[in-house]
Amino acid sequence: MARACVIGWPVAHSRSPLIHRYWLQHYGIDGAYEKEAVRPEDFAGFVGALADHGYVGANVTLPHKEAALRLARTADAAAIAIGAANTLWLDGDGALHASNTDAYGFMTNLDAEAPAWNEGLGAAMVLGAGGAARAILYGLIKATDAKILLANRTWARAKSLAHRFGARVEVIDWETRNAALATCGLLVNTTSLGMTRQAPLDIDLGALPREAVVTDIVYNPLLTPLLVTAAKRGNPTVDGLGMLLHQAVPGFERWFGVRPEVTPALRAHVVASLKPEPA
Ligand code: ATR
Repeated sequence: MARACVIGWPVAHSRSPLIHRYWLQHYGIDGAYEKEAVRPEDFAGFVGALADHGYVGANVTLPHKEAALRLARTADAAAIAIGAANTLWLDGDGALHASNTDAYGFMTNLDAEAPAWNEGLGAAMVLGAGGAARAILYGLIKATDAKILLANRTWARAKSLAHRFGARVEVIDWETRNAALATCGLLVNTTSLGMTRQAPLDIDLGALPREAVVTDIVYNPLLTPLLVTAAKRGNPTVDGLGMLLHQAVPGFERWFGVRPEVTPALRAHVVASLKPEPA
């Protein structure tokens, strides 16, 4: 029986088991997918003994994604460019390999939910400069020739991200984000704002063209205040859950040998877990 897990600290909130166990059952695979709460100081030891723990591979979530990349024998181009890995697997010789599937997940979902997002795209705006922004910039740079405007509350963080990704990324001042929307055909929120128990993202969509696609990586709630506002004024919207579902595909295929499908039924299964939490 092949076993995989998600390693995080904390890990209780992770929805990866929900996704992978759904697929295991759906495809009739004799496998298992567990949650492993591992402290940062124990991560290298845990991953070094992954096979002893009975695993063929793992997903890695906060705060271990950078360490996962460092510990792997090989890493794919996405993980290297993003500087973090979210998917690990052991080869037949017991060597550890790493991939980052977040950019794949984001782009695959965007292509599926808003297939015309790149048509006549003037510029794209990415809000935020954390780990999620790194993955999304990597994905967007490969997928479009459009200019990418990057705005973050802390300017220096945006600047260092832009430095990492080169001239295609133009840092704009956080205070100018509303006006800069006028040239944008895509708006991506990668900050945690809008998440349950967080403040909503403070943005005025007034200047954004009505055909611009608005997408959020926050998926709890599924309809963030940003997406609700965008939909009300007629902009096409893409929620953050699809990215989570699609990023899981390559890992599952690697560990269990079947390329799983992201279906409406899987989506409904995960949506059912997104119950409103008490304030
Ligand atoms: P992750 O790695 O998961 O993307 P992160 O590194 O904590 O998470 O990044 C969170 C993002 O949300 C950052 O871009 C952060 O901006 P700073 O770099 O200025 O911290 C952004 N963010 C969080 N709270 C914010 C707020 N109240 N206003 C604006 N941006 C905020």
